[in-house]
Amino acid sequence: MTRLAHRRADLAAARAALPGTVAVVMTMGALHEGHAALLRAARAGADHVVATVFVNPLQFGPGEDFDRYPRTLDADVAICAREGADLVFAPNAAELYPAGRPATAVTAGPPGDVLEGASRPGFFTGVLTVVCKLLQLTRPHRALFGEKDYQQLTVIRRMVADLDLPVKVVGVPTVREPDGLALSSRNRYLGAEDRRAARCLSGALRAGIDAGAAGGGGDGVLAAARAVLDATPAAALDYLALTDPDLGPAPPAGPARLLVAARVGGTRLIDNVPLDLAPRR
Ligand code: PAF
Repeated sequence: MTRLAHRRADLAAARAALPGTVAVVMTMGALHEGHAALLRAARAGADHVVATVFVNPLQFGPGEDFDRYPRTLDADVAICAREGADLVFAPNAAELYPAGRPATAVTAGPPGDVLEGASRPGFFTGVLTVVCKLLQLTRPHRALFGEKDYQQLTVIRRMVADLDLPVKVVGVPTVREPDGLALSSRNRYLGAEDRRAARCLSGALRAGIDAGAAGGGGDGVLAAARAVLDATPAAALDYLALTDPDLGPAPPAGPARLLVAARVGGTRLIDNVPLDLAPRR
């Protein structure tokens, strides 16, 4: 049976009753198959699974979609139950931030200032602060995060290493629609036309992978991806970046990461892929 806790005291009591290893999957709700994959991976690697559902106000900037972010707790709990979660912690803001906006926060430093951090100032401070709190409250052995939010995964790994937090961070590959669109809770904002246009993000990444494998080098990867994005005027590009797997400068050859963010209609979408840069021809 899956227990639902809204209060820290109930979470603490239910968590104390879970013997063996515990994995946590943190979410903002509006769960989809990508979250289900995280829950399944969590279940496969630990004796018990705790899911958290909390739309974290700290990580939304002014004018972002905090108010309209989908809140679907009953359906979320049903998915958690289906995927074998033992416990769902779904606090409200007053429960998690009893003194209001916390005076103390965790910042990502320079790795949090680029890409998403450049477009969404304060975003990673909000994310790391809530992730740190939820780790303290759920006390997991493992914490699973989707690679779809690759920079988030990277800065969380760095926080855990820098602060010696006693948890193993596990990344789980992105789940995609059959046409390539990465699953995201925000996809439900897309109307039919925008949904079609949104395919250009994964299409651009695919073109980049092919160019990299063909020996096009970093420039070739970026040019191939850019051409796909330019062919979709409905998508306003925010950034397209090629990096190494740790989000440092792209290597001349070998493993790399290609990341994209674009606004389609009123919806900001992100995606990324690993790729291999074959030596230049
Ligand atoms: O990826 C998300 O859903 C959120 O950023 C997270 C990790 C649950 C923190 O609010």
